[in-house]
Amino acid sequence: MTVRPLPHLLSWNSSRDDGWHAHVRAACDYYVRRERISEVQRHLALLFFNSSLRTRTSMEVAGAQLGAQVTTIVPGSGVWGFEWEDGKIMDGDKAEHIHEAIGVLSRYYDAIGVRAFASGTDYLSDRDDVLLRRIVSASTAPIINLESAFWHPCQALADAATLCTHFGGGVRGRKFVLCWAYHPKALPMAVPNSTLIMAARLGMQVTVVRPDGFELDEGVMASARSHAARHHQTVEETSDRAAACHKADVIYAKAWGGRLRYVDQAAESSLRLDLTDWRITAELMDRTNNGVFMHCLPVRRGVVVDDAVLDSRQAIHLLQAEFRLHAQKAILAHIWGL
Ligand code: CP
Repeated sequence: MTVRPLPHLLSWNSSRDDGWHAHVRAACDYYVRRERISEVQRHLALLFFNSSLRTRTSMEVAGAQLGAQVTTIVPGSGVWGFEWEDGKIMDGDKAEHIHEAIGVLSRYYDAIGVRAFASGTDYLSDRDDVLLRRIVSASTAPIINLESAFWHPCQALADAATLCTHFGGGVRGRKFVLCWAYHPKALPMAVPNSTLIMAARLGMQVTVVRPDGFELDEGVMASARSHAARHHQTVEETSDRAAACHKADVIYAKAWGGRLRYVDQAAESSLRLDLTDWRITAELMDRTNNGVFMHCLPVRRGVVVDDAVLDSRQAIHLLQAEFRLHAQKAILAHIWGL
């Protein structure tokens, strides 16, 4: 390929014919042919308002393996900080509203992945995924939820594929325990919500074991029960860990903050601090039906789960992480019709 220098690159302000009009015509032509050009090379943008290891890297690799060019964007770090409140007078440090930012990106990219965690301050807004909905309505490109305030569908898809692979398709009717674990921070409910629905949709016999004050959303519980009923299964809820783990096939550990955090953060912290013994131990795993241990990661060793469990043959958390890549490829291939 020959690389030709641009004439008058700095000012492009010449009175003679320096090719400027030809470039204007070429730009108009690219606009007219934009659909056909994007069929040749896909472009994927990944917008991370929050930190990530697995989701970010597995999406980057998934896009590359499918032949797409991937751009990862961290608002406020090398790109403008984004405002998302409607009606806000933008006289603070955020230079660009998501209406424009997403409107622009969706003209360049064939899909946009977005990670935007829960606010932790407004339950109804988090439950309704208001930020993600605003992003979807500002976009003309497909939006992929890379963990929103209330859901982590990519994780759930990967976990479902992990379970189906591990149990060789014989997942239905197996005992799945979603077990609350202590964590020093009040983590969001996106993963437990998605995990619960995922296990119910697979037709597993599901138990949620959590301390009082850490109940999941009633609407999510009702939805899980309705999925389970289609498979003639149930979704139980208890605070008795030993009983819940008895003969379980899967222990899925996850920490999440209590609903109290939305009205009184100090009270929720103090409630949680009394629950440091809610950790997955080898003794709890011994109660299972030689069950597997799962966690979406990142996981705090010695806090959420003991080393003896994570380092045992029962732990399949790394297989789960591998399936993030395969699941993300399935999503991108679906969106792009590959
Ligand atoms: N499980 C998960 O989403 O991991 P990351 O937060 O590292 O992306």
